[in-house]
Amino acid sequence: MPEITNIVILTGAGISAESGLATFRGPDGLWEGHRVEDVATPEAFARDPSLVQAFYDARRARLKSAEPNAAHRALARLDAEWPGELLIVTQNVDDLHERAGARRMLHMHGELKSAWCLGCDARMRWEGDLGDHPACPECGAAGRLRPDIVWFGEMPYEMERIDGALMQSDLFVSIGTSGAVYPAAGFVQTARHYGARTLEMNLDPSLGSYHFHESRIGRAGELVPMWVEEVLGSS
Ligand code: OAD
Repeated sequence: MPEITNIVILTGAGISAESGLATFRGPDGLWEGHRVEDVATPEAFARDPSLVQAFYDARRARLKSAEPNAAHRALARLDAEWPGELLIVTQNVDDLHERAGARRMLHMHGELKSAWCLGCDARMRWEGDLGDHPACPECGAAGRLRPDIVWFGEMPYEMERIDGALMQSDLFVSIGTSGAVYPAAGFVQTARHYGARTLEMNLDPSLGSYHFHESRIGRAGELVPMWVEEVLGSS
């Protein structure tokens, strides 16, 4: 393996599939007949807030019985042991990376366990439901809390930091994402443009698979621990 120092890792729903969390676009990817694009937009929330809250309340409740899997644990080990720069960018709104122990990470699409008050603009940790119109603990307004999730048409979080890390990276790794949603789907091109080697690990080739120098096809729970062994062995 060529000399590497700076690693950026992008993860998607596929890394949490073996923890029992449904992906968005797989065979189990419809939620009560709704496509994700029909519930994950500001327009959907304006049209039918109860439906959108119920979608995220169900996903937040499901987190309670989901545990990090071997892929999350392997990335947490890499985070703890990798001597160079590392950034794990997840599109996932679950908390399985941090529960596995990863620290050098960020949630570009927000988090299920965060609520955002449209009344006072505060963001706060949130474990329970939002569909029952709880009052905001900060300003007291009722029914103004929404999931702190980046919906279609909204700007993902921390893009400047991500772009900076991609430009500096010499290895970009994409794990468990279909490559259907931008800007994350374009990270491989940015990283390559600035000279990084690129690797994807996914159950099926992603939509942008041809952009990667290397594709490993299989389950994240098997591929990621093997890859982490390789990388730490070479450092
Ligand atoms: P998708 O559901 O689009 O894609 C999941 C990918 O994971 C697919 O390519 C699967 O083949 C792969 N996969 C499934 N099981 C796997 C396993 N055990 N090991 C490895 N790969 C596996 O999910 P994302 O690409 O994450 O956005 O979706 C991107 C965004 O679309 C999400 O962040 C979400 C959604 O709209 C927002 O919520 C804003």
